[in-house]
Amino acid sequence: MMKTYGHFDDANREYVITDPKTPFPWINYLGNEEFFGLISNTAGGYCFYKDAKFRRLTRYRYNNVPMDTGGRYYYIKDGDTVWNPGWKPTQTDLDFYECRHGLSYSKFIGEKDGVRSELTCFVPKGTNAEVHKLTLENISNVRKKLKLFSFAEWCLWNGMSDMENFQRNLSVGEVEIEDSVIYHKTEYKERRDHYAFFSVNAPIDGFDTDRENFIGLYNGFEKPVAVAEGSPRNSVAHGWSPIASHYIEVDLEPGEKRELVFVLGYIENEKEEKWESKGVINKTKAKAMIAQFDTSEKVDAALLALSKDWEKLLSVYQVSTGDEKLDRMVNIWNPYQCMVTFNMSRSASFFESGIGRGMGFRDSNQDLIGFVHQAPERAKQRILDIAATQFEDGSAYHQYQPLTKRGNADIGGDFNDDPLWLILSVSAYIKETGDWSILDEIVPYDNDESKATDLFGHLTRSFTFTTKNLGPHGLPLIGRADWNDCLNLNCFSDDPNESFQTTGNQMGRTAESLMIAGQFVLYGREYVELCKRRGIKTADSEGHIDAMIDAVKKDGWDGEWFLRAYDYYGKKVGSKENDEAQIFIESQGFCTMAEIGKEEGLCQKALDSVEERLACEHGIVLNNPAFTKYVIEYGEISTYPPGYKENAGIFCHNNPWIIIGETKLGNGDRAVDYWKRIAPAYREEQSELHKMEPYVYSQMIAGKDAFKPGEAKNSWLTGTAAWNWAAISQDILGIKPGYDGLMIDPCISKDWKAYAITRKFRSATYRISIRNPDGVCKGVKSMTVNGQPVDGNIVAAVEPGSSVDVLVTLG
Ligand code: GLC
Ligand code: GLC
Repeated sequence: MMKTYGHFDDANREYVITDPKTPFPWINYLGNEEFFGLISNTAGGYCFYKDAKFRRLTRYRYNNVPMDTGGRYYYIKDGDTVWNPGWKPTQTDLDFYECRHGLSYSKFIGEKDGVRSELTCFVPKGTNAEVHKLTLENISNVRKKLKLFSFAEWCLWNGMSDMENFQRNLSVGEVEIEDSVIYHKTEYKERRDHYAFFSVNAPIDGFDTDRENFIGLYNGFEKPVAVAEGSPRNSVAHGWSPIASHYIEVDLEPGEKRELVFVLGYIENEKEEKWESKGVINKTKAKAMIAQFDTSEKVDAALLALSKDWEKLLSVYQVSTGDEKLDRMVNIWNPYQCMVTFNMSRSASFFESGIGRGMGFRDSNQDLIGFVHQAPERAKQRILDIAATQFEDGSAYHQYQPLTKRGNADIGGDFNDDPLWLILSVSAYIKETGDWSILDEIVPYDNDESKATDLFGHLTRSFTFTTKNLGPHGLPLIGRADWNDCLNLNCFSDDPNESFQTTGNQMGRTAESLMIAGQFVLYGREYVELCKRRGIKTADSEGHIDAMIDAVKKDGWDGEWFLRAYDYYGKKVGSKENDEAQIFIESQGFCTMAEIGKEEGLCQKALDSVEERLACEHGIVLNNPAFTKYVIEYGEISTYPPGYKENAGIFCHNNPWIIIGETKLGNGDRAVDYWKRIAPAYREEQSELHKMEPYVYSQMIAGKDAFKPGEAKNSWLTGTAAWNWAAISQDILGIKPGYDGLMIDPCISKDWKAYAITRKFRSATYRISIRNPDGVCKGVKSMTVNGQPVDGNIVAAVEPGSSVDVLVTLG
């Protein structure tokens, strides 16, 4: 029996961590709009406004020793004992510890020597701040004289320069202290129109704003000198490292309780309103924000509003199957992770520093399929933002910065799968909302307003980009890489100082991708459907799709599976002729989702090969056999040790492609089985091995060739969330939004007897009950809508506000 570190509390929609020493920091995200915090199970992490690189409020040191050091800390000094509600950083043993990660809030409950503390952290709606409510309660029968120190360390805004430009940074830090508020105003004098503050809704008995004074040059966060000695220094930072610490003496009679509200906020001022007087910042907005949360009641109300929002978001899709693990994934945690990935793309997690990658073109388009049903308006805006970074020839900047919404020129483009993902996101948006007007929105190219077409024109260019970039076999040219960032078929890197993906591009016109071929057929058909509905002739486009199908069958089939690619020299990649990496997952996924050669049995054969060669108990690996040597013409993929990341790791993002492929063939048992291998709730009992949070997907689980198969990494920010959402909610449970209504098309395990789903769709409610009396995997035998039998399996969209009862019998 392996050790677990907590449990799910489904009623409260929380994961409850009961042992602070999780195998890795298990984190949560605060904020859903413009202000965000990352918070670990010991209150470590940091917060930022919009962009983790350019507007970072608090400092964080990555890959630190000890792990996860730095955060929002509250030190409670009770006699000689100093402890924290979240155990760290003092690591004083607690009599009771619980971290409850809920939907956009985290709660830390610590008890020590008759004192109970409860710290709740969240970002209220419409607010650019973290609010921390701290309750201290004397549960002993003696009087307690406690000394409380808060702590946050300011980051000097730019997360990157904060870690490298010390010759400047150590001289520029500035603060102001007024009443119980510490203001951080570094660089405000010149070009910044923003400052941060940390407040508390009570008089303070002292403070510190200079790190060396508070912590001591030779101490760590676990033993700040001011705390150890029980007396603040009232230090005012001038350069060096500014921090914010309040000091409050809390006397509690037995049974008495004290509640304090701290606000860690961000303020922007108009240029002409920056100052109150010379050198003194204008605090009007800060004071207004503080006043919004100056009582516990106001904070509780804001927390309730947040939970009501989540209630509403989650109510769009609720399933009841009788399998509590499945239900909690679908009803709570998968949609939650989809919201977080939508917000963060791949920017800020405990594996992504927030200073490297902006928003990915392909990533954000894919994230959208996990999110569009939750907040269609925001999804629409996201589509328009992404499309505006597309180039005129249909290709795209690979990434863009969220703050500026501009393409990132350092990385550039030439990832040839990128354009096609836009067709996926736009069609998913229209299917969910029925809002065809999005296609008429005028959207620039490369953010240049003088170059613009309607959004539909962008899709046309996405489509034609592929048709104009075909290689010798009539298959799509791969460019620097396709979805697999590490299959770098045109980047011959032999210099350790360069990037595998963006340097040395040969601009060859031979390397071709079978994954893009499948993607083109799948999303090309979607494009054709949109054309038809707009009354546009489709013969040419259909011709291109047919030609692609022929090319795949002719030069993309290896006998038992689909090839992966042709390399720069025109040699096969992912073929039985290769020594290593004879079979890859991506082309099996995309070509079977596109049903290429289904009639001839190619899809079934390919999926059988996947089962035989790629599947293992922890999921489906990316390629097999794993690479053991560097192949310069393949690039980064062959650099990872066997079993990790793109080299035969279980890259959870692409497992759903196989799962969906299986459902196309009606193999429900296999589809469900594959899904359970990677779905985190099913891996909870193996937490010691799995290592990452059991409530969210990780990008990668070490594959069968790894040193430690089953160990996950890179949790949270991964296309895995959105794709598994699509796989389980649409392809397995079978509720598929379509242009005209909801298609009911389950593909389940034979032994599932019945289940029920409530789906809100275009402002109407569908109560769907599915029965499987004959024990089949797939096939709707009959269906009634509000008691009336209907032909087929599409429930036509009904009047907004109405509700519909759908009874489906499989057989
Ligand atoms: C990472 C990237 C994604 C890429 C994948 C496979 O998850 O964010 O864009 O497709 O790796 O390389
Ligand atoms: C590395 C990773 C890959 C990721 C890429 C982003 O190559 O292996 O997953 O997409 O970096 O730049």
